[in-house]
Amino acid sequence: MSNDAEACRVSGEAETRRMNVEQARAILLANDRGGYCVPTARLYPFQWNWDSAFVAMGWGTFDEARAWQEITSLLKGQWEDGLIPQIVFHAPSDDYFPGPDVWGVRRTPATSGITQPPVLATAVRHLWDTGRDRALAEANAASIYPALVRNHRWWQAARDPERRGLVATLHPWETGMDNSPAWDAALARVPMDTVTPIRRRDTAHVDAAMRPRGEEYQRFIHLVDVYRDAGWDPARMLAASPFRVADVATNAILLRAEQDLLAMAGRFGTDTERAEIEERVARLHTALERLWHDGLGLYASMDLMTHEIISVGTSGGFLPLFAGHARDRAATLAATLARWAARVSRVVPSTDPGFTGFEPKRYWRGPIWAVVNWMIADGFRATGDAATADRIRGDTVALIEAAGPSEYFDPVTGEGIGGADFSWTASIFLLWVR
Ligand code: GLC
Repeated sequence: MSNDAEACRVSGEAETRRMNVEQARAILLANDRGGYCVPTARLYPFQWNWDSAFVAMGWGTFDEARAWQEITSLLKGQWEDGLIPQIVFHAPSDDYFPGPDVWGVRRTPATSGITQPPVLATAVRHLWDTGRDRALAEANAASIYPALVRNHRWWQAARDPERRGLVATLHPWETGMDNSPAWDAALARVPMDTVTPIRRRDTAHVDAAMRPRGEEYQRFIHLVDVYRDAGWDPARMLAASPFRVADVATNAILLRAEQDLLAMAGRFGTDTERAEIEERVARLHTALERLWHDGLGLYASMDLMTHEIISVGTSGGFLPLFAGHARDRAATLAATLARWAARVSRVVPSTDPGFTGFEPKRYWRGPIWAVVNWMIADGFRATGDAATADRIRGDTVALIEAAGPSEYFDPVTGEGIGGADFSWTASIFLLWVR
């Protein structure tokens, strides 16, 4: 190829890339509702907890002030006891069920009464570390740090009061992986009757075959009814919970977040706070090892009603690497991923494609989610396995370039499915491509 032709090809590629970066930025701008992003227009018209952590990092690639604002907006919903809710209902909308009236949480802004995986401290540390405007980064990290301390204390007090090491999740929505087959058996014990009349709105926006089934929805709402009756009080919720799991993803994400908080405590905290965080880190490292599943070659969640490990391989099972845990198991985990990869065209499917319950188009029962890929790749990279990390990154970027920043992707066909123009998918693209 002549030099000219080569230069032309390279600049052509660069142009396509630049266009895609522009599009990804445009999606955050379009989904901005004034200091916070909705995950996508209509299907999810409020601010979601872990979505916003990734979205803040996405903003951080081109607008640092706006990145910090995403987080302060989310924290407007934080409760006095430290809980950071799954949803903050900043403004009314009829496009989503269950809305504030069903949750019955009397606060301003209104919020739901459960939480989501605690990625926030990791996002704050990322923005603090990478911020080019140092004064802005220091000031924001310092003012947000106490809210993170309160939140991590909440996890322990509310979800591991006996200090056994693993935190409990009381609703599949708290795992962020709503209808994962890992929850099937535990969810089957939850009754289907509801006090709240069910008026699903999601299936008006997205094909029902890509969403949770009706039966799952009834159990989801039954759980909301139970916890609302418990007055959203952590001890009463734990006692009343008909669904209680130690989600491997939530626990791994929390362990990572604790270490990011510890790094910030070195700058903004006290000796007592540092000692307290170190103690939780040590306890969680030990406890996480109880979730190793030899047969799956993977970590797995535990049903806290039966104390059995749930024998379903999910993408969350790779996340202990994201927490700097299990470095000595990295090769086994890479081999497991390679086995999965042989059955699909792109990685990482949310459910083991060799599992009978694998459904490549149905939400968390098979599709690829960019945010989970970002965390898994980060974990493999930290162990020195650049090949696996690059494969995950390359697949994710290729999927988004070809199909746009969809909510999730079919791992067999590569199709972009669920909602379109998703804030967190666009953010992962920005973090990886810039
Ligand atoms: C769905 C996903 C959850 C996400 C939310 C908003 O409920 O399962 O993980 O946070 O949508 O995007």
